[in-house]
Order: sequence, then structure tokens, then C-alpha cells
Amino acid sequence: MSRLWWGMMILALMMVACQPPAAPTPTAALATQLPNLGGRELRIASDTTYPPFEFVDPNTNEIVGFDVDLVNEICKLLNCKPVIVSTAWEGIFAGLEQRQFDLAASGITITEERKQKFDFSDSYLRYGQVVLVRADEGRIQGKDDLKDKIVGVQVGTTNEETAKTLVADETKQLKRYDTFDLAVRALLAKDVDAVVIDSPAADGFMAQNPGKLKIAGQPFTSEDLGLCFPKGSDLVGPFNFALKALKENGTIDRLYDKWFKEYKPGK
Ligand code: ARG
Repeated sequence: MSRLWWGMMILALMMVACQPPAAPTPTAALATQLPNLGGRELRIASDTTYPPFEFVDPNTNEIVGFDVDLVNEICKLLNCKPVIVSTAWEGIFAGLEQRQFDLAASGITITEERKQKFDFSDSYLRYGQVVLVRADEGRIQGKDDLKDKIVGVQVGTTNEETAKTLVADETKQLKRYDTFDLAVRALLAKDVDAVVIDSPAADGFMAQNPGKLKIAGQPFTSEDLGLCFPKGSDLVGPFNFALKALKENGTIDRLYDKWFKEYKPGK
């Protein structure tokens, strides 16, 4: 009897010991590993003229948008305090190099060239560039119709690089503006025929100018956006952890819907 009892005990113990440990859900596992930045204040550079990524809400005068929500959500997880510093596009990169900012969140494309000078987070969004034209435009059906047209872009962007390849003579046909906001105003004023721009931003400007603009053709590039840090920043690892958690728990999708599908100015 007691031998049988011991036998059963040993068998039961063996069975328990051989059980693989219950796999924790990925988000729970991430949460326990999330770094804690101890309330650190982060200076975040952003060119806030770029709806729906970052722009000034005319009703409240507050800086809002996808990138703003994203860094807020990241800081909730990492225990940091985001301070958005409105900065001209070119000043963002100069300031990062001089370490005036902890990072930049500004719809920035991850490129090989930028990676030489800066560190990037993992991609938080993939999109394509498009051709934005006036709603009544009949001559331009897509990128191949820009060879003899006047094209506006924001200076120093991947869109400028792309537009250079689409016009026959960039000195005559390419107009570079300090912001995309100005490029779109030039388009509406008929100073340029088209603007080459990231597709979510094209949607953002269309939402701000209902009925006045349209996209000609389909997105024709594929690029990844990342948060941009000074080289060697200790924040890249923590931010990637947080981004992963926000992808897994559906927050990124929710922000995507909020800013890229539902956003209409005045709402
Ligand atoms: N994605 C493009 C780039 O990185 C344009 C970004 C422009 N962003 C802005 N906030 N104006 O070059």
C-alpha cells in the first residue's frame, strides 16, 4: 500500500516536473521587461506643420497628431515625460546632432543616409509617396505625368529626392518649401502643379482642405517611418520595447484609425 502510494507520488511529481512552463502572453512578458525611465523629461523635436502626424489644432492651439499620441503612449509605458519642441524640419537634424533634443518624432523616413548620422527606432509605419494635385486637375494622372510640370516639395525630405527623379529639369521645375504646409498652399494658389508627399500626409491635407485636392494615381514607393535619436542614444532600446508592446496590444492600430481614417478637422 505505502509502496503504491510512494510510486504514485513519484509519478505525479515527475509529471509536474515535465510540464513545460505555461507560456506567458507576449504583452505580459513585455510589460515585466519594460524599462523604467524614472520620470525622465524628454525633449522631442517635431516640425508641427504636417497633418495628421503633427500639427497645431486651430481650435485649441495645441500640438496634436499621430506622432504626438505615439510618444505619449510610449512614455506612459516607460515612465517618461514627453515635451514636444516645435522645430523647423532642417533644424530637427542639426539639433539632434548637437544633442539639443532627446529624439525627433516628425514622420521621419528611415533612410540609409540618415542612419549614418542618427539612430532610429524600429519602423512604426510603412506607407508610400503619392502625387497630390488640385481636385480639378485633368492633366496629371500619376507620377509619370510630372516630367514637364512644376512640382512642390518640402526641402530636405525623401519626397524632394523622389521628385527630383520625376521632373526633366529640377532647377526649373522643382520648388522647395520650408514646410509641406507652404507647398500645399502653393498648389492651391496654382504656383505649382503637384506636390510629391507621403500618402498619410496627403490625406491629412485633403482633410484640412475638403473638396480642393485629390491624389493622382497610386502610392509608388514604400518607406518606413521611425523615431530618430542622436547616435548612441540609450533610449532606442526602451523605445523599441515600448513600440513592440503598443503593436501587440493594438494601440498602434487604434491610433492609425484615429488619425488616418477618422481624422477630420474640426471634429
Ligand atoms: N517622410 C518624409 C521624410 O522623412 C517627410 C517627413 C516630413 N515631416 C514633417 N514633419 N514635415 O523626409
